[in-house]
Amino acid sequence: MKTTILLVSTFLLLVQARYEDDYVVNNRTFPKGFKFGTASAAYQIEGAWNEDGKGENVWDRSTHLYPEKNSNATGDVTSDAYHKWEEDVELLKGLGVSAYRFSIAWSRVLPKGFANESNPAGVTYYKNLIAGLKKYNIEPLVTMHHWDLPTALEDLGGFLNSDIQEWFVDYARFLFETFGDDVKEWVTFNEPKQTCDQGYGSGVLAPNIVSLGIKNYICGHNLIIAHGKAYRLYDKEFRAKQQGRVTMVVDSNWFEPASNSTEDVEASERSLLFTYGWFAHPIVYGDYPEIMKVRIANRSKLEGFNSSRLPSFTDEEKQIINGTADFMTVNIYTSSVAQAIPEPDITPLDPKRDLDIGAHIYQPDDWEKTITDWFKVVPWGARKLVKWISDTYGHPEIIITENGYHDNGTVINDLNTRGRYYKLYLSNLLDAIYYDNVNLTGYMAWSLTDDFEWQYGYNIQLGLYHVDFSSLNRTRTPKESSTYYRKVVTTSCLVDTCVE
Ligand SMILES: *[C@@H]1O[C@H](CO)[C@@H](O)[C@H](O)[C@H]1NC(C)=O
Ligand SMILES: *[C@@H]1O[C@H](CO)[C@@H](O)[C@H](O)[C@H]1NC(C)=O
Ligand SMILES: *[C@@H]1O[C@H](CO)[C@@H](O)[C@H](O)[C@H]1NC(C)=O
Ligand SMILES: *[C@@H]1O[C@H](CO)[C@@H](O)[C@H](O)[C@H]1NC(C)=O
Ligand SMILES: *[C@@H]1O[C@H](CO)[C@@H](O)[C@H](O)[C@H]1NC(C)=O
Ligand SMILES: *[C@@H]1O[C@H](CO)[C@@H](O)[C@H](O)[C@H]1NC(C)=O
Ligand SMILES: *[C@@H]1O[C@H](CO)[C@@H](O)[C@H](O)[C@H]1NC(C)=O
Ligand SMILES: *[C@@H]1O[C@H](CO)[C@@H](O)[C@H](O)[C@H]1NC(C)=O
Ligand SMILES: *[C@@H]1O[C@H](CO)[C@@H](O)[C@H](O)[C@H]1NC(C)=O
Ligand SMILES: *[C@@H]1O[C@H](CO)[C@@H](O)[C@H](O)[C@H]1NC(C)=O
Repeated sequence: MKTTILLVSTFLLLVQARYEDDYVVNNRTFPKGFKFGTASAAYQIEGAWNEDGKGENVWDRSTHLYPEKNSNATGDVTSDAYHKWEEDVELLKGLGVSAYRFSIAWSRVLPKGFANESNPAGVTYYKNLIAGLKKYNIEPLVTMHHWDLPTALEDLGGFLNSDIQEWFVDYARFLFETFGDDVKEWVTFNEPKQTCDQGYGSGVLAPNIVSLGIKNYICGHNLIIAHGKAYRLYDKEFRAKQQGRVTMVVDSNWFEPASNSTEDVEASERSLLFTYGWFAHPIVYGDYPEIMKVRIANRSKLEGFNSSRLPSFTDEEKQIINGTADFMTVNIYTSSVAQAIPEPDITPLDPKRDLDIGAHIYQPDDWEKTITDWFKVVPWGARKLVKWISDTYGHPEIIITENGYHDNGTVINDLNTRGRYYKLYLSNLLDAIYYDNVNLTGYMAWSLTDDFEWQYGYNIQLGLYHVDFSSLNRTRTPKESSTYYRKVVTTSCLVDTCVE
């Protein structure tokens, strides 16, 4: 009884602790069985872009055709993980992690995208990697699509062609059949918001198609149904035998209300629903968030479209996608503020997705910055976001599938930058576990090594291990943050001494 009273009062004290300057790093331990790992993606680390029968994907093409869109850089070689995977597995072993999130390059195993023609050398590469991980009891968490669609499929319309639903199911079947005895955690798609908003909206990412507010929604729609169909395939043909789990990786900022006014609080909620909810609502509840459907339909009508720019699911599709996340995930790096604004102007037939949200989204100048202007260090935002996910989706199990800090890649003694970032974000996530009752069961640090960072090329880096991109050997050197992360992973504790 006494213990209970003591616990309750400690609880209140800590809940009241403010997030800002007086924030005290949580000195509890992560729950037993908590999965620490690191994350990566095929195009960012593998290199060997045209070796051993690999087909071309949209990133190969974008970096070769449009160097100016990609900081004049390519992933042709990058950190050369295709040849150096054994070394990377040793690094993972050294960190003591129990999980590694990586992606399979679709065009490395199915060079033309279709499942009727596979590439044995590509299959062998991933078989070896998976076996290497399992030898050290490191669980593979495998992403099927991390932005690198085979160009053979892009040429047929990519995510804008509803046939992609079947192409993806065939690919998923191939992966379940080929790797499913050893892989128990599957991610269908990584950050579909970026795939669609940036790949088929702003055009910043491959395949660099520009169509703000129209094609990005079509992309999202086909992608969600493709996910649902792959999930049902697993249910029907593989789950009983393979006993694994399937989900999607969704990314989001936390959107802090600009004030406590009802309007700003609603703007925050709306921003979360248009960002995280765009994909999470369909796969958890079977349809887009109501506010998304209503706002886009309204604006489409006023803009002169005959129907909503947001496609709608048929009843059959709703059934297919409803309840297709075996656990939930989130990639979080930073946060923003959402402020209510008067209803944005209508421009006839020239929609913008940002205006669909109907909020002014920004990052205050006085938030701690990094070397890029979109990335502020906001540790408390991570706690609020996972709590929102937990509250909004019925207290699901959640895994942080990416989180990390970027700098210009030259800094080895990064204990007070990257190391501190990890400490503060992890501490806020631990607060969410202990004080907000969030069922957070894993954390994948982005990233194991430095890599090709998409449109930023090699100008920003997030690795725990530095890669010398000017050496043929692509030499890996531990950064100080890797020492800190190893300590966290091996002790489950963020500070020198933890209470039990
Ligand atoms: C890429 O190279 C071109 C030509 O050399 C140069 O003008 C441009 O500034 C470079 N862009 C970046 C982002 O480095
Ligand atoms: C594989 O399937 C595609 C699409 O149906 C077809 O165009 C192609 O000819 C097939 N390739 C082989 C080797 O059967
Ligand atoms: C909103 O209210 C909370 C608690 O009442 C307070 O701590 C916070 O500072 C307020 N936020 C703003 C932006 O005024
Ligand atoms: C999704 O399934 C739940 C539980 O069966 C059901 O209550 C809900 O109505 C379904 N959603 C849709 C959009 O059909
Ligand atoms: C949608 O349009 C209807 C009719 O014009 C209006 O009453 C409603 O407030 C609008 N809803 C939203 C969320 O914009
Ligand atoms: C709306 O429908 C009419 C008649 O079918 C068609 O002529 C017009 O191009 C359509 N407009 C848009 C914006 O889709
Ligand atoms: C967290 O989720 C897992 C998997 O669903 C479940 O086994 C576990 O009991 C949950 N833990 C809590 C504290 O809710
Ligand atoms: C990279 O950042 C570090 C630390 O901020 C700085 O000392 C260094 O000059 C920067 N290097 C380049 C090439 O910008
Ligand atoms: C290549 O790099 C690894 C570390 O990544 C290092 O252990 C090895 O000595 C290097 N080999 C050469 C030939 O430089
Ligand atoms: C853990 O943190 C609490 C609250 O800040 C503090 O009272 C306690 O002394 C700390 N325990 C250890 C072992 O550091």
